[in-house]
Amino acid sequence: MPVYLYGHPVLRKKSLPIEADYPDLKQLVADMFDVMYESEGVGLAAPQIGKNIRLIVIDADPAAEHNPECKDRKMALINPELTVLDGEPVTRDEGCLSVPGLSEPVTRVEHIHLKWLDEDFNAHEEEMTGFLSRIVQHEFDHLEGILYVDRINILRKQFIRKKLANIAEGRTRCSYPVKYAPHHGK
Ligand code: NI
Repeated sequence: MPVYLYGHPVLRKKSLPIEADYPDLKQLVADMFDVMYESEGVGLAAPQIGKNIRLIVIDADPAAEHNPECKDRKMALINPELTVLDGEPVTRDEGCLSVPGLSEPVTRVEHIHLKWLDEDFNAHEEEMTGFLSRIVQHEFDHLEGILYVDRINILRKQFIRKKLANIAEGRTRCSYPVKYAPHHGK
């Protein structure tokens, strides 16, 4: 299962809610965890494997050493509803499996309220903070067709313009299987 890269239109569509009768959902969740671990990510959203459905997998535990709120946080989020709460904006570097080789500072309020369904369609809700909240916000953006590079400042965006163009045009190397934008046919 390849990771779809920057420039692919599937990453720019708004994803649709998942119904309870969605076929083989648990297998899809398991496959997405596999892809995420193979590419050493801490989160993956369904559009990144070419499916415009509202499904996210997260395992934040690798970030727990410096972010205690990430400890043992492995979860599948189905049809998440996210509200950003009050708080000071925090700027931290983010990367994305769909934008290989780059990491850029992104400013977000790291305090959210999240409602979601797990893979058994049990409902959960929770307030989250810190890096865990950032991961959730980054992945939630994918469901809306938003990439973190849309949220960086205009000067940084100019600075990485060429690199983004290279990814979109199929000129990048990656340690995990990828799928380029369709007009490059790779
Ligand atoms: Ni991403």
